Amino acid sequence: MNPDIHNIVILTGAGISAESGLATFRGPDGLWEGHRVEDVCTPEALARDEALVHRFYDERRAKLAEVQPNAAHQALAALDAQWPGDLLIVTQNVDDLHERAGATRLIHMHGELKSALCAACGKAVPWAAALPPGTPCDGCRKPALRPDIVFFGEMPYEMDRIDAAVRDADLFVSIGTSGAVYPAAGFVQTARHVGARTLELNLDPSAGSIYFHETRLGPASALVPDLVRELLA
Ligand code: APR
Repeated sequence: MNPDIHNIVILTGAGISAESGLATFRGPDGLWEGHRVEDVCTPEALARDEALVHRFYDERRAKLAEVQPNAAHQALAALDAQWPGDLLIVTQNVDDLHERAGATRLIHMHGELKSALCAACGKAVPWAAALPPGTPCDGCRKPALRPDIVFFGEMPYEMDRIDAAVRDADLFVSIGTSGAVYPAAGFVQTARHVGARTLELNLDPSAGSIYFHETRLGPASALVPDLVRELLA
């Protein structure tokens, strides 16, 4: 790998957790009780059928107890621990597999299953169990706790920090994401604009494959450890 690489930004999506046993959103098994994810994960859906939205995330939160980080999460955690330059892992995933593998330089731009957010006062609290509709916030006491998930139409977390890191990047790597959802799908274009090398690791070519200098196709559990070995060599 090019010795001029100091600053790395890595974007991950559902594909990196697929081999741990978590379904992707847009694959053949990507429907939930016949709902498209876009129909469940919206502020309108929460207002229309709060119980359905909570049940969707309760099931996904419970599933986390049955799965483990795979070789791709572990390789990124090793890179995080050993890379001497700037590094930021930006995940669209709401699972906790990156941090369970040991990654620390990590942003959950779409929120976290293991967090609940008060829709009234904005306070976030760690949450491991099911989250019944109407659960009161321990700050403002209003019965307004909802999953701490960035729904379609809401602003992802920490966009300023992410944008600054992408603009400083020498290498931008996208792993296991279909490139269907903005703003994450647009990071590659910003990275290219500022002169970063852009690399995609995915099972299939993504919607944004043309923007990458290089695409490597295959399972994340094989491609990511190979890349980390290259980077740390
Ligand atoms: N290794 C690498 N890539 C894989 C693997 C694997 N083992 N399995 C699947 N993939 C790839 C698929 O080819 C697909 O391109 O992962 C991608 C998963 O795409 P999506 O299901 O669309 O997931 P993602 O891109 O993370 O979705 C983005 O959409 O619903 C919202 O907020 C949700 O964060 C999510 C966002």
